[in-house]
Amino acid sequence: MKNVVRKICFVLALAALGLFFVKDCQAQMYDYERMSSAFVNMLDAATNYLADNFEVINTNKAKVGEPLPKGELYSYKGINPEGFASMVGKEFAKKTGITIKFVSQGKDKLGPRSGYNKPDKWEAEQLKKFTKIQYPKGVGYGEVELVSDYNMVYRYIYPLYIEHKCLQCHGDPKRSPTGDGKDITGFPMENFKLGELSGAISLTFPIE
Ligand code: HEC
Repeated sequence: MKNVVRKICFVLALAALGLFFVKDCQAQMYDYERMSSAFVNMLDAATNYLADNFEVINTNKAKVGEPLPKGELYSYKGINPEGFASMVGKEFAKKTGITIKFVSQGKDKLGPRSGYNKPDKWEAEQLKKFTKIQYPKGVGYGEVELVSDYNMVYRYIYPLYIEHKCLQCHGDPKRSPTGDGKDITGFPMENFKLGELSGAISLTFPIE
């Protein structure tokens, strides 16, 4: 009888320990997801600020928050929203080991604007999922990926959709500001439509 009680206690203790680990693991995943979502939103906010003020940066005598001055000289200064955000992402990765980057399949025959933004297998799968009608709009997705026997990373990806302000560069090539199907930054315009998925921000967290 004593033995049976001991066995039951042992099994119960094991179950409790297992539950503790599962709970601990779940809490950790939740932390990774929250941190990833915060970083991604921060980069998205910085990108949006630049996209919103793109005309201001490039128009002589223009000021943030004021109407654009009429008849002033306009010249592209070489700063574009995602180019800027990619630089921020690269500096961030150097300092933290966390990679954060834009990915896109491009559209039709046009691939991503920069080779660096080409999605890997996991990213390509998630981008495909984001285009499904059942997938809730604007919701990121994260999971653990086993890179090798001893190496795990947490990956998070956040969908980006075309808004009105994106169309000046990623919209209809017939509305090209330079009349050659290219946007002001010199890239061929992809003909993305309002609300369409343009790509995603992808983040990889090393798990210690
Ligand atoms: C002033 C022009 C401009 C505007 C406005 C703009 N983009 Fe871009 N976008 C670019 C350029 C240039 C690149 C390539 C940057 C690089 O060199 O990595 C790019 C790259 C991207 C990428 C990475 C995929 C790729 O093709 O390289 C995504 C995704 C993207 N843009 C989405 C958006 C969204 C969403 C908006 C609106 C919120 C937006 N862009 C607004 C110019 C623009």
